[in-house]
Amino acid sequence: MFSEKNEQRLNNSMSKMKIGIANDHAGFALKHSIVEFLEKQGYEILDFGTNSAVPVDYPDYGHPLAEAVEKKKVDLGIAICGTGNGINMVTNKHQGVRSAICWNRKIAVLVRQHNDANICALPGRFISERTAVSIVRAFLTTSFEGGRHVPRIAKIPVRKSK
Ligand code: RB5
Repeated sequence: MFSEKNEQRLNNSMSKMKIGIANDHAGFALKHSIVEFLEKQGYEILDFGTNSAVPVDYPDYGHPLAEAVEKKKVDLGIAICGTGNGINMVTNKHQGVRSAICWNRKIAVLVRQHNDANICALPGRFISERTAVSIVRAFLTTSFEGGRHVPRIAKIPVRKSK
């Protein structure tokens, strides 16, 4: 884990990053801990809702977050629904978005290093608050490795079937 000194260094270097967050009702329960963590670390937050447990449709929240990532209004995004899948499908419909479902810390590290993922999709009904925070921390503090991964991610964008 991080020493206090490293954590402080992290706080200083990351303090201006702007993070978008969007979730449906099934992701709402996890949101509090994540937002609390982001605030404590000094990230700027753009919250696209929803902010209650009343059932809503995840595309209504995922699309605005993906647009913000696409238009670079935020640096990175966090998307939460019950399984992480629905909202991930939505955000990945946007050009320039590479949204990755993360269910543990190691996956979060790898999707940043290898895929340059810019949205972290979380399965709100299947991970604990503690796991969610460790995933988000890893996602926001890991850099893209570049190199051999550059031509690979360049081949991702939507193409028409022949
Ligand atoms: C909501 O019940 C649930 O279907 C939604 O959060 C998500 O898991 C869909 O992919």
